Amino acid sequence: MPQIIFSCREESSQLAWSELQRGGWGLSLESWLQKGVGLASCPQDFAALAPAIQASRLLFVQHIFPVDTVITNYLAPEGSELLDKALDSFALRMSKTAPFAIQLRRAIGLNDSYQGELRTLLQLYFIGNGFSHHTRYPEQIISGYVTSTSLYLGLSLASQNLSSWNGGHVAYALRPDTISRSEFKLLEAIECFQLSLPTQGVALDLGAAPGGWTKILLERGLKVLAVDPGALDPRIKAHPQVSHYAMTTQQFLRTYRSTPVNLLVNDMRMDIIPSVELVNAAASLLAPDSLLIMTFKLPGSKPFAAIHQGLSLLQQEYSLAHQRQLFHNRQEVTIVAIKSPGR
Ligand SMILES: C[S@@+](CC[C@H](N)C(=O)[O-])C[C@H]1O[C@@H](n2cnc3c(N)ncnc32)[C@H](O)[C@@H]1O
Repeated sequence: MPQIIFSCREESSQLAWSELQRGGWGLSLESWLQKGVGLASCPQDFAALAPAIQASRLLFVQHIFPVDTVITNYLAPEGSELLDKALDSFALRMSKTAPFAIQLRRAIGLNDSYQGELRTLLQLYFIGNGFSHHTRYPEQIISGYVTSTSLYLGLSLASQNLSSWNGGHVAYALRPDTISRSEFKLLEAIECFQLSLPTQGVALDLGAAPGGWTKILLERGLKVLAVDPGALDPRIKAHPQVSHYAMTTQQFLRTYRSTPVNLLVNDMRMDIIPSVELVNAAASLLAPDSLLIMTFKLPGSKPFAAIHQGLSLLQQEYSLAHQRQLFHNRQEVTIVAIKSPGR
């Protein structure tokens, strides 16, 4: 039976597996290769399963890839023969006009050198056979999960894997001008959901302190109304395009009556329902078709019920566009919605 490997945040393993089960695709969990990485078998092949998973907008599954072959003792001569055969069969299915990448993850505790050697070997094989390599923007991906004895290997299109990053692990470098790690959540949402943000006008940032999201919005050319009783980083506070409202969102919404807003973001540390009530109240400030990007902070119990309640409340004012626990989300999921017309 065909197999897949799926990835999610470690602490969301059970949530991810339960939504894969609820999908009704007949998946059976064979084992957890590690926390957050599951091996499952399914009656349909990956070409049919991947679009179905994509369309069902799972919240907690971040990455999937097919297991086309499992090679045991891949370092021994009989293993390397099987590996050669697997690579030959992948090459026959691959296009020479679309860039490829090798994405290998290793089991916890496995020496990095195994994975490194294997990656080089695979890359050289495909480059030597006339395929073009692109680490960051590949269109076809040979994915692998490496343990000390076994190699799970599969070929798929980047568009089928839910994320074109290895295992869904999105990497952004900390820079001297990074204000907070929260920035990465917004950058990832923009990249992962391919959002086009306005390049001029006003953004309203609820729960803005210390200012990571505000910084990203400023870099995109927006003026930012940064609402938070907490302090902004001095570099953000001093920016001429930032107005800091040092108050709660509730206070801000009672008093603000000025320019319309073109983008609303909300990363407030707050339960889902009150947080949604506030963005619903803020909808009257938004220009038509404005985008909302927000995080839902997950409760300790019954997260699905809380998320669904929040999403249905949100739909009083917005149409849902995307929802997913991103790699940089911790106990939260990221929601993207568009202000509904005529409201
Ligand atoms: C995770 S931090 C936001 C980080 C921010 N996105 C960044 O990139 O720097 C959550 C913020 O929500 C703010 N917050 C909580 N309740 C709020 C409320 N009622 N109104 C405004 N801000 C609130 C907190 O003060 C805190 O600064």
